[in-house]
Amino acid sequence: MENGITPEVAFVGGGNMASALIGGLLKATGRVPATVLVVEPDDRQRARLALQFGVLALPAADAQLAAVPMVVWAVKPQAFAAAARPCAAYVAQALHLSVMAGIRTDALAAASGSARIVRAMPNTPALVGQGISGLFATPAVSADDRARVEQLLAPSGELLWVERERDLDAVTALSGSGPAYVYYFIEAMIQAAGEMGLGAEQGRRLALATFAGATALARDSRDSPAVLRERVTSKGGTTYAALMSLDRDAVKAAFVRALHAANVRARELGDEFGAGAAATAAVGQAAASAPETPVAGAAPATPITGAARGPVPRR
Ligand SMILES: NC(=O)c1ccc[n+]([C@@H]2O[C@H](COP(=O)([O-])OP(=O)(O)OC[C@H]3O[C@@H](n4cnc5c(N)ncnc54)[C@H](OP(=O)(O)O)[C@@H]3O)[C@@H](O)[C@H]2O)c1
Repeated sequence: MENGITPEVAFVGGGNMASALIGGLLKATGRVPATVLVVEPDDRQRARLALQFGVLALPAADAQLAAVPMVVWAVKPQAFAAAARPCAAYVAQALHLSVMAGIRTDALAAASGSARIVRAMPNTPALVGQGISGLFATPAVSADDRARVEQLLAPSGELLWVERERDLDAVTALSGSGPAYVYYFIEAMIQAAGEMGLGAEQGRRLALATFAGATALARDSRDSPAVLRERVTSKGGTTYAALMSLDRDAVKAAFVRALHAANVRARELGDEFGAGAAATAAVGQAAASAPETPVAGAAPATPITGAARGPVPRR
């Protein structure tokens, strides 16, 4: 590296998730900020990253990436193909960690040229250090590699390794999308509070404290959620009336169906992104052997500017 500091990790994409991970990493490990590279084409994002963290933000992939032992993919899945192409020539030796939804390890391996791939499915509470990430590793990932991934992700919250890659679709359905379900119930509680004559702020405080308190109690207790529920449900009482109403409306069955729908959609998105990434892989392999040579039918491996990238669909 030009400044004589050896880079330790490179992020491709410097948005919300990358910023949460970089902030946690620097705070938890006391790592020198300049050992962290970020490839981020957006000028304002780069300026923010440099100011907020002191990391080295690059406008495009360059040869500095070749010295980085670990690459973290944190672009939107739709942007992966374009982001991977200019990196391919430099990153085959690295351990790769992806936090992108839906991009599978075979596509990541083909696009990066590395067999050492870990996929993580975080959730939005990672932004405040209270997330949970499901993790899957390919067989080439060593125990040391896993430890490095855990060190990087630990400040974002809890970590849960799964044995099969398809289990990440279930993790996506449970905890990846999960915060939205919790907000959905909180919204319903706030609505009901208003209908019963309470103010919106009062409803909000009651709902949030109830979720936080019930979750803390379930976490600390040896009893199952079902036992804890029964303990606040005396026959003929208020909770009983509410739960009977939920059962009459088959809410639990509907909610379980909703989780299955999310699981199916996660699998479908993986299939869609997998097809797109496979095309990238072919281009990536060609770019790796001749980084300065434009490949027929593909975008040239030149620095990407914000203006030249074109619109990236948002999730
Ligand atoms: N946010 C979450 O809580 C969460 C939870 C689970 C999983 N994830 C996953 O994390 C990933 C990132 O999400 P995010 O919320 O952090 O998105 P984000 O804030 O949009 O960050 C993505 C960043 O990548 C940049 N980028 C776009 N094209 C690029 C390229 N070719 N090379 C390098 N960087 C490029 C974007 O720049 P522009 O703004 O200029 O496009 C943006 O700054 C996604 O794949 C998502 O599925 C996020």
